[in-house]
This record gives sequence, structure tokens and C-alpha cells, in this order.
Amino acid sequence: MPTTLETIARRRSATHLIHPGPDEPQLRQILDAAHQAPDHGRCQPWSFILVPQANIAAFGDIVAEAYVRRCHQAGTPVDPERLARERAKPSRAPMFLVAACQPRLDLLIPAHEQFASVAAAVQNLLLAATALGFGSKWTTGPSATDPLVKRALGLDEHQSIVGFIHLGTVPDGAPKRPPRRTTPPSMLVRYWVDENRLSEEFPAAE
Ligand SMILES: Cc1cc2nc3c(=O)[nH]c(=O)nc-3n(C[C@H](O)[C@H](O)[C@H](O)COP(=O)(O)O)c2cc1C
Repeated sequence: MPTTLETIARRRSATHLIHPGPDEPQLRQILDAAHQAPDHGRCQPWSFILVPQANIAAFGDIVAEAYVRRCHQAGTPVDPERLARERAKPSRAPMFLVAACQPRLDLLIPAHEQFASVAAAVQNLLLAATALGFGSKWTTGPSATDPLVKRALGLDEHQSIVGFIHLGTVPDGAPKRPPRRTTPPSMLVRYWVDENRLSEEFPAAE
């Protein structure tokens, strides 16, 4: 098993994902990691909805219908190629999950903090999948905020889609995305000196 830092460095969005995806025990491990995210007030604002492969075409139809409806609302023509792409999006990996934020509005924790928790949960999920050897991709796009898509997932106007998560195996020989360039130390962090100055130098020991 890679170390945490190796896993973080290894995670990259995968453009092409093939079978196998995670099996049920692996999925549980991945989701258990997601549920360990920092969570102010223990709101547990995340929820994960897996669309099984048997139902993925039906979900793709809803995503496509939502695109057509957005075109009609905007008075723009439906692009047949884009329509086909929208329909195919959920089925581009062997496993497709929706990560949603269902904030607890009855608690004092602001909704934006709860959204931040869900983003942390998604990153945990991606890192767990990476550690288990899977490729992943987090996507959004217009369908993530589309009311028709949200409603089809049982989400109301207070709830949001934080990401569509695609999981699977990166094919052998797939072009590797280059590792991120190392951030220059001066851009990693700045150090607070006083209300007028941030320094780029690591503070001297006391
Ligand atoms: C909130 C969020 C939404 C994203 N939406 C998309 C998307 O719609 N399409 C896409 O190709 N990538 C999407 N990504 C992935 C980013 O493009 C990707 O993480 C970025 O290019 C860095 O590449 P890496 O993940 O390989 O490090 C999204 C990432 C985040 C965090």
C-alpha cells in the first residue's frame, strides 16, 4: 500500500477508465474513507448515490434531456454531438457515483462550511480509490446544477451536487498525465508578520 503522500502525488484525473471498477468491499473502503472527512458540528452533510451500470443508460437519458431543456430555455439549437456526449457522460467509467451536499439547516454550522466538508470527503474518496489502484475523475458541468438532474437524484433546492465521480482502471499504456509541477517554495505559503506585511521567509525559531 502506498504511503499517504505517495497516494496524493499519484492521484490524477483519468480521461479513460475501463473495467474493473471497485467491487463491493473496495467500494465500502472508499466510502468509509470519504466518511472520515473533517466535519464541523458533525453534520455529515455528504451523501453518495451510486448509479449501477444496469441503470446508467436511464440516468444518461435524464442528463441528455436536461441538456435539451437548457437549450430550449436559452433559445439555442440542440447540438446532436453534444447531446450524444451528455448522454454518454455517466457511462464513461465502470463506476459512477454522485457526491451530494445535503446541509443540515437546523444546525448552526454555515452551509458553506458543510459544502467544504463534502469537498474534503470527495478528496478522501479519490485518494482511497487511488491507494487501491483505481483511476478516478471528478466532474461537474452544467448538469451538476440542473434542477432536472438534481430532482432525478432526489435532491431539493437546498441540496447540491458537489461532483460526479467516475472510477475504474486506467488502461495499460494510457498516456500518463504529467505530475504537477513542484510549486516554488515562495508560492506555497506566506508568513504573517503583522497587519501590514506577509513574509516569504520561514520564521526563525524562537
Ligand atoms: C469541483 C471540481 C469540478 C471539476 N469538474 C470537471 C469537469 O467538469 N470536467 C473535467 O474534465 N474535469 C473536472 N474537474 C477535474 C479538474 O479538471 C482536474 O482536477 C484538474 O484539471 C487537475 O488535474 P488532476 O486532477 O489530474 O490533478 C473538476 C475538479 C473539481 C475539483
